[in-house]
Parts: sequence; C-alpha cells; structure tokens
Amino acid sequence: MNNYARIPLLLSMFVFISSTSFAVDFDPDDLGDESNGKNWLTHGRTHSEQRYSPLNQINVDNIANLGLAWSVELPDARHLVSTTLAIDGVLYVTGSFSVVTAIDARTQKVLWRYDPKVVDHAGDTLRVLWGTSRGVGYWDGKIYVGAGDGRLIAVDAKTGEEIWSTMTVEPGSFYYITGAPRTFNGKVIIGNGGTEMGPARGYVTAYDAETGEQAWRFYLVPGNPADGFEDNAMRMAAATWTGEWWKHGGGGNAWNAITFDPEYNHIYIGTGNGSPWNRTIRSPGGGDNLFLCSIVAVDADTGKYKWHYQTVPGETWDFNSAMDIVSVDLKVKSRTIKALMHAPKNGFFYIINRLNGRLLSAKPFAKVTWATEVDMKTGKPIEVEGSRYESGEVLMWPGPLGAHNWQPMSWNPEHQLMYFTVHDIAGYYNDTKIRKADYQASGHTFEAGVSFFDNDVPVDSAINSIVAWDPITQKPAWQVSTPPGWHAGTMATAGNLVFQGLGNGQFIAYQGDTGEKLWEYDAKHGISAPPITFELDEKQLIALPVGWGSGMAMLGGSMGAQHGWIYGGHPRRLLVFALEGQAALPLTPGPRFVKPVDDPAFEIDAELAAAGKDHWVENCAWCHGPAVVASGGAPDLRGSGIVFDSNAFRKIVLEGQRIGRGMPKFPNLDESHLNALRHYIRQEARGALSKKTDVAQAN
Ligand code: HEC
Repeated sequence: MNNYARIPLLLSMFVFISSTSFAVDFDPDDLGDESNGKNWLTHGRTHSEQRYSPLNQINVDNIANLGLAWSVELPDARHLVSTTLAIDGVLYVTGSFSVVTAIDARTQKVLWRYDPKVVDHAGDTLRVLWGTSRGVGYWDGKIYVGAGDGRLIAVDAKTGEEIWSTMTVEPGSFYYITGAPRTFNGKVIIGNGGTEMGPARGYVTAYDAETGEQAWRFYLVPGNPADGFEDNAMRMAAATWTGEWWKHGGGGNAWNAITFDPEYNHIYIGTGNGSPWNRTIRSPGGGDNLFLCSIVAVDADTGKYKWHYQTVPGETWDFNSAMDIVSVDLKVKSRTIKALMHAPKNGFFYIINRLNGRLLSAKPFAKVTWATEVDMKTGKPIEVEGSRYESGEVLMWPGPLGAHNWQPMSWNPEHQLMYFTVHDIAGYYNDTKIRKADYQASGHTFEAGVSFFDNDVPVDSAINSIVAWDPITQKPAWQVSTPPGWHAGTMATAGNLVFQGLGNGQFIAYQGDTGEKLWEYDAKHGISAPPITFELDEKQLIALPVGWGSGMAMLGGSMGAQHGWIYGGHPRRLLVFALEGQAALPLTPGPRFVKPVDDPAFEIDAELAAAGKDHWVENCAWCHGPAVVASGGAPDLRGSGIVFDSNAFRKIVLEGQRIGRGMPKFPNLDESHLNALRHYIRQEARGALSKKTDVAQAN
C-alpha cells in the first residue's frame, strides 16, 4: 500500500473509532453468528439460545478419547447452576451469590474474581435468597452480573473492576435476581424473581450497556388502575383480572428466559406464575390474568408491547413460561418457519410464530393430567375438571417443579431435534387450610396461598429422561431414561453429540440422532449446570461447572438428598475436557449422608411440634427442606446438635450469627416460635431414626 492510499484509510479508521464506542475486537454481530464456534458469548451461546455449537472436532467417531484436560477449584462456591461464557480464551464462571471467576483457559490461572457481596447487600431478602445465579452477560469488553440482591453490575472483562452498578428493584421489596442478563443493540436486560415471597409485580428493565442508564421498563402484570396504566398493554391486561389483585402483586416475574431476535428486533420475555399461586386469592372472580405464564414480545428498542401468547390462562399451580425460549428456523418441506420453541413447566411443547405470536402447535411431552390438550382454535388448554383444587385437594401432573424447568434445552439444526431433560413429577395442592378471604402475604416468607412444602419429597418422586423432541411430528425421536433425581441442561454440537450432566455426578454424551450413549465421566459430585464448548488454539474444549445446586438442593427433600451431596461436603470445580485429556480429578470424598441425632431426654410436645411445622413451612423449608429433609443447599437440621441448645439456636436464627454464611436472621419470629420449631425438628429427627431405611447410613 503506498502512502497516498494510506491517508484515506487512516482517516476512515479514525472516523470508525470515534463514531463507535465498542472495542476493535468486539463485533456485536458475533452474538448472533451461529456459524462461529470459537466463543460462547451469551447465555444460550448466541441470541437464538439454541446452545448449538458448530464445532465438530469432538465427534461421534472420537468421543471415546475425550478426557479431563484440567480443572480449577472454586472453593467459595456452593450452587453451580450457571452457564459459563468463553470469550477469546477466557472463561467466566458464575458461582453462588453471583461471584464471578475469570479463568485464563491457556494458563488455567484465575485472572480475577469479582464478589458483589450479595449477603451484605441483601438485608431481609437473604431470607428468600438461595444464592443461585445462572450466569453473566457480555457486551463490548464488559461482563454483566445480576446480583442476587437486585443490583445489575458491569465489570471490566479484562480486570474484573466494577464499571457501573444500578439497583433494579425497590430496596426492601421481595425481588431477587437469579437469571443471566442478556445483551443486545448496546443494551443489557434483566428481570427478577420473588413471586412467592410477598406481593410481587413482575417487570423487566433494559439499560444502556455502556452507562447503566435505564433505557426502558416493561411491566408484566397491571398495577392498581387508580394509579393509571403505564401503557395500553397494561390497560388490556387489566381487563383479564378481577378483585384487588394489585394488593397481592400479581406476579409474572421474568426470572429466567429472555431471548433477543435480531431479525424482528424483538425481545421475548418468558413470564412467571401468579403471586400468590392461588388464583382464587389474587383474582377471585377468575380471568386469564395477563401476562402471567406467557411469552410476551416487545420491541427491543422501545420496550413497547408487540404480541403475547399465554400458555396457562388463569395460572394457579406455580406454572411458568420462564423456561427458555429458543428461536429456530424450522424447515418443513420446502418452507422455513420462523419459530419459537418452548417447553415450560406445564408439560406441553409449544411452537409459536415469532413474528406475530400465533400458536402453530402444542403437544404434551410428559405426563399431563391437568389438561387434555391445547385447543388450536382458541390457543387455550382444555382443563380437566377439578384441577384447580377449588373443591378440595388435587394430585396432578406436572406439579410446581414442572415437567421441564429452567435447565436449558439445546437444538440441533441439522437433525431438527430439541434435547431436554423431562421430569414426570406430580404436584399436590390443597388450600383448605388457607384463610383466603383476608389473605395477605407478609413478605420474606414462603406464602403461595396453597399448601405445598408440608411433606417430604420421596426419593423416587420423579421419572426422568432426556428426550430428543422432533417438533415436526411433536413426538420424541428418541428418549433415554435417566436415574431418579434432578438433572442439568443440555448442549448440542455439530459433532452429532448431545451432552448432559446428571444429579448423580455422571457427565454423559449421546449420539445426537440416535440417543446411543457414547461416553460417560464420573465428576464425583452432582451436576446442575449445563456444559459449554469453545475453541482455543484450534482445539475444541468442553467446560462444565460441577457443584450440586438449584431449588432441588434446597427443597428437594429425600429426592434431592439421595445422592449424598450433603451441605459443605464436596468441592466445587470447573472441569475442562479435551480429546486425549489425561488429567486426574483431585481427590474427592464419596457421597455422604446426614446422621440424625437425638437426645432421648428431650420430650417432644406434639402440639408444639404441630405449630413448629407451620413456622417451618413458612420460614425454613425454603432452604432446609420440607419435613426437615435437607438436600444439600443448607445443613440438615436433623443432624444438628445446635437444635438442642436453645441459646445457640437463638443466636443463629434470631440474632443472625451466621449471616455471613448465608443463614438469614428471622426478626419476625420470637422465643415461642423457636421453641415450637425445635420440637418439630426433634420430632422429624426421631422419626427418621426410628425408620432407618429412610436415611442412609452415615459415612
Ligand atoms: C435462605 C436460606 C435459609 C433459610 C430460609 C433458613 N436457613 Fe438456616 N441455614 C442456611 C444456611 C446456608 C446455613 C449454613 C450456614 C453455615 O455454613 O454455617 C444454615 C444454618 C442453620 C443452622 C446451623 C446448623 C448447624 O448445625 O450448623 C440452624 C440451626 C438453622 N440454619 C436454622 C434455621 C431455621 C430454624 C430456619 C427457619 C426459621 C432457617 N434456618 C432458615 C440457610 C437458610
């Protein structure tokens, strides 16, 4: 190039740099590029959330040679449920309480660790905060962290230094963040959770990715009409509510799924259940209650309503449409359908036209007894009479845990199959004990307006499988049963492989088109996070955080406890796999189980124990498990000597002695509550000791 030619080029480069704010190595289009497998740039790898990597160096022919290449210990982590991001050779792993660790994949060194100090910021929210975090977002040199206490924080991807921080929820309210922020068009968007923790009104907020300034907010359920509506969408939604729903918040919180569609410039929001669950309380005259349990499309630039599709009108079972929303170009004969695919808790697999929200198909993928089918004329489910527990208790499939929950699904565009974990697990609903007429949730305790956490969850409560769902036939192409328990999300690759980690610690690869199990690795600890894959120095690597976590580790009872991932018992790690990987896993203890303790001199008062059970369900079961059966996310109090010591018990429960370790304080309780709780805990411990078969032997 001669000097004359260089001048205009330099000039144009100058214009380029000064007129745009992003770094030279950042191309916003990469987040939508399905063909480039080098990085994993956003929660679902690309905007489409397909979790499909075009990398095929690891494939069906050589998968037998896949082995552990290296691992990094994550000593402070508990729940590891997050999707790792891989950006230019750096891995960003999100642990519990939104702590982010950046690891150089070349040197395997920790580059930085960012701790947003969630416990210090949480206040009373700590009482409802599990510390789970499903990951971070990325845009132009910045990593975005949704902190459990409600802050959205931008940190420098290179240094981990905080750049900006903004509070996305009203301080003192009942919202918390577990979801991964998503980025698009120079913005970052986040929702929140908290529908069963007090009156909650769901919304999502988009911020300027550079400055943290609010760009727009979209509410998901209407507020009090007397205060005026934010927009016409809220006016329309309000016509589907009855009574004084705003006093109960309404719900609809978007705690997980948000998908950006660059083609139509839409944001698809997956909305949550009602607050409280029980519709007879929040909307006593009935009604669909928009936009609960829906996919809502809004304009990505303005946040203005475009369309919605509601999967569960008049939601009353803790059903959600917060499960991931995957954007797909579905090829049917010679046509290409611009579709969204969605397999929410309610057990139906939905295909929706993403331009206009029209329902194209909905068929059950699991055991479903609450509805017989979805009527294609109205787009609404045909409910089975009695499912609404309006005339008493109901046992039905699925239940609040869902036939498919937040565990991400993945799509293979070549075979046109969607891979996801399915749980056939029932729900038991009974509101006869609830004072419905004057019901008002007090906040920061578990209050769903229906009994749910009263009893343990038996070991074999769920029949599980991984399914390769064919959306064209709306039937499984293959389905392989997985052991009882609660398993993680999947990843599909162009190597014709599907990867999934199981609650029992097995990491498995299946052949994508046939479901043949090709490879298995024992990670020696429960897997709750989905794997990712990326390329470094022309080598394909697979990264997987290993560390039992999520709601199943908190309120899964015996079902969650069965693998022996006792609280604090096993190291948390990031494992990285490669062809010819030969690394050994560091020494790991085997499964460990709680050993209940008893003092025969402690006389259990049945009446006190019964009162204690109610306090337990409202305040403690959320983390320590139903019927005092913990499943790993918090200590099993049947084995805790502290319960015998009323002073030590008070210091922890009332005075907050262990707050720094995530054990909240309960200023709403007094000595008499504590006494009742101790009688209940002792009763359950003694009960467990008397039927030894229920509790595995201590190590
Ligand atoms: C938000 C989750 C959460 C809730 C809700 C919760 N706990 Fe905890 N609790 C924890 C965690 C986590 C620990 C472990 C802290 C540590 O590592 O020391 C813990 C520890 C404890 C301990 C100490 C046990 C031991 O042997 O070390 C007691 C006692 C306890 N909790 C009682 C209760 C009671 C009673 C309630 C209900 C009033 C309750 N907790 C509600 C999370 C929770």
